[in-house]
Amino acid sequence: MKVTVVGAGAVGATCADNIARKELCEELVMLDIKEGITEGKAMDFLQSATMLGSDTKIIGSTNDYSKTKGSNVVVITSGIPRKPGMTREELIGINAGIVKEVTSKILEQSPDAIIVVISNPMDTMTYLTLKSTGLPKNRVIGMGGLLDSSRFKYFLSQAMNVSAQDLQGVVIGGHGDTTMIPLTRLATYQGTPVSNYLDEAALQKVAADTMVGGATLTKLLGTSAWYAPGAAGATLVEAIVRDEKKLIPCCVMLDGEYGQKDICIGVPVVIGKNGWEKIIDFQLTEDEKAKFNKSAEAVRNMNAALEGLK
Ligand code: 2OP
Repeated sequence: MKVTVVGAGAVGATCADNIARKELCEELVMLDIKEGITEGKAMDFLQSATMLGSDTKIIGSTNDYSKTKGSNVVVITSGIPRKPGMTREELIGINAGIVKEVTSKILEQSPDAIIVVISNPMDTMTYLTLKSTGLPKNRVIGMGGLLDSSRFKYFLSQAMNVSAQDLQGVVIGGHGDTTMIPLTRLATYQGTPVSNYLDEAALQKVAADTMVGGATLTKLLGTSAWYAPGAAGATLVEAIVRDEKKLIPCCVMLDGEYGQKDICIGVPVVIGKNGWEKIIDFQLTEDEKAKFNKSAEAVRNMNAALEGLK
């Protein structure tokens, strides 16, 4: 297996670190436009590997796409990150151009690759990747839902004072502060509804904290978060290269599922060697459906901004 991570900023480097530590592939390429940065990070990783025991071969590349040739999975983290006070949506103009160019160069070298999109605004960048490349829809996956679900489980675990490992919780919809939908009704603690342990007000607070989870971190850090976004990217790579068939909320192209068409948005999907393999219908309530439709409308409006950029 060969995996490429494009963009060696904090998210890309953390993603690569997780991939290498878990030995998810024999060869891992890190590519960035900044001269020397990936070569340096690759060398640093390889030195850490002498202690960690990872045998993954890591190759740094300053914008030389030929080194990425034959990749099975490519993670795109390129683009500028959020600054405090900035929404993910405000990044669209700059990041659209970058993501379009990167994906086209990647596919020249690796026409069969599965693409994992992390760049923001993630739903629109996933849609752009599909539209600009013409790839089969199963091969393009946006990672937002996994990250948002990890934050949902974290806030639930804090509110309940229990291990996050014992919790299940899924966030669907757009990867935006106002568009994501933490499904509190379906969240469970070892199979029992979390509503057995938290009252409605506490559950609403968990949902609200989850929705602004990225913005809270951006404010604290002065830039976007990287540990959980990087781990989310690596978790998707793992599910693909190990053909895990794991149910993971991800941003994918809908064709009538969840009542929506021609939009990339977060829904629960099964991830395996073919990318996303099927969409699971969680049978939303009328209220959840209404929230999902509203979220889709917001994502659609953002996608419309791509037209103006052409
Ligand atoms: C976040 O939510 C980077 O969008 C990412 O932290």
